Amino acid sequence: MTETEATYLHATRTAYEIVAVDYERLLRDELNAKPLNRAMLTAFSDFVQAQGTGPVADLGCGPGHITAHLHSLGVDAFGIDLSPEMIAVARRTHPGLRFEEGSMTGLDLKDGSLGGVIAWYSTVHTPPELLPTVFAECHRVLAPGGHLLLAFKAGDRLRHLDQAYGHELSLDVYWMSPDHVAGLMGEAGFGMTARMVREPDESEKPRQGRQAFFLARKPEGS
Ligand SMILES: C[S@@+](CC[C@H](N)C(=O)[O-])C[C@H]1O[C@@H](n2cnc3c(N)ncnc32)[C@H](O)[C@@H]1O
Repeated sequence: MTETEATYLHATRTAYEIVAVDYERLLRDELNAKPLNRAMLTAFSDFVQAQGTGPVADLGCGPGHITAHLHSLGVDAFGIDLSPEMIAVARRTHPGLRFEEGSMTGLDLKDGSLGGVIAWYSTVHTPPELLPTVFAECHRVLAPGGHLLLAFKAGDRLRHLDQAYGHELSLDVYWMSPDHVAGLMGEAGFGMTARMVREPDESEKPRQGRQAFFLARKPEGS
């Protein structure tokens, strides 16, 4: 593991250990007011179920509300997160679902074992130089024809947070250029299915900016 990776994993895990309980409380109903986010999750769910090649891993699942939403759409979804406290909150909140500790930079999953992978605002803390590693892992664990859904903040900047969700912490957040991310996904072997970049809604103004949702696929026969 490089020093960059070790520093990122340690800092991100530490921050989410602190905020896990309040993060769940503040964000549990966020999808209700975000119809375009729900639309991408529905499309992903339909594609994965039509393909029928295996379960879906929600990478960086946090408190599990996206995992639970996918489950409610009929998807066989489970969650993976870096933070043991997030995993504990997810298990408590959604006792019927499976959540495990792990890192999307090195997944403890077999090659080609999944029908879908989702990384919903969980690559926003990943140093850009590690994104190829994350996309390579997503590609490795997907079965041919499997689908990837990515949600991230569109832009080109880094912001260091020393406060979030009512707590003091230390956390880097990256806004990434959609064209750059699309290029990295292509280099990892994905074919793009759809790119949605939407304007910030009222809850995201003025700081968050545009929000990006990319749906991609590991080609059949790869
Ligand atoms: C902004 S939260 C998003 C949580 C959830 N997906 C949601 O939409 O509410 C980022 C989450 O990603 C997790 N995370 C960040 N880097 C990770 C990594 N390398 N592997 C697994 N989880 C990671 C954090 O622990 C945190 O729970």
